[in-house]
Amino acid sequence: MKIDLMIGADHAGFALKKTILEMLSAKGVRWEDVGTFSDESVDYPDFAFKVARAVSSGQVKTGILICGTGIGMSITANRLPGVRAALCNDLYTVRMARAHNNANILALGSRVVGPGLAREIVLTFLETPFEKGRHLRRIRKLDEDPTKPI
Ligand code: RB5
Repeated sequence: MKIDLMIGADHAGFALKKTILEMLSAKGVRWEDVGTFSDESVDYPDFAFKVARAVSSGQVKTGILICGTGIGMSITANRLPGVRAALCNDLYTVRMARAHNNANILALGSRVVGPGLAREIVLTFLETPFEKGRHLRRIRKLDEDPTKPI
């Protein structure tokens, strides 16, 4: 079955991941959950890399990653080519992350946002289109050689 998005979390994000997955299922979104599957302590890079590799390779277009702050997940995911992971713990940022940055992974902090706001952030991430135009030129520059002088 073709999936719409891949999701992963560490132990801090495990409970919020469950909440998000329940909402996505109710809306008919097809997802693959790469774990973690309990609140036993794990290392966030292991889960961030699984989702980021799938996005980077084109296996899936969209990812969601949840840890305590969202910081570790976003730092890790952005190490892979073509990944634009955005840490969004508010609605304005997530709207801009899609409209201007064409973010392909949403990183969320379970210790920063409550479940109600987190659900809104995820829906905004999935429903906001990329505006293209001048923003397309800018995100294309992200894939240039960063050591090349401008
Ligand atoms: C785990 O305690 C915490 O460090 C992790 O979930 C995340 O917030 C790291 O960025």
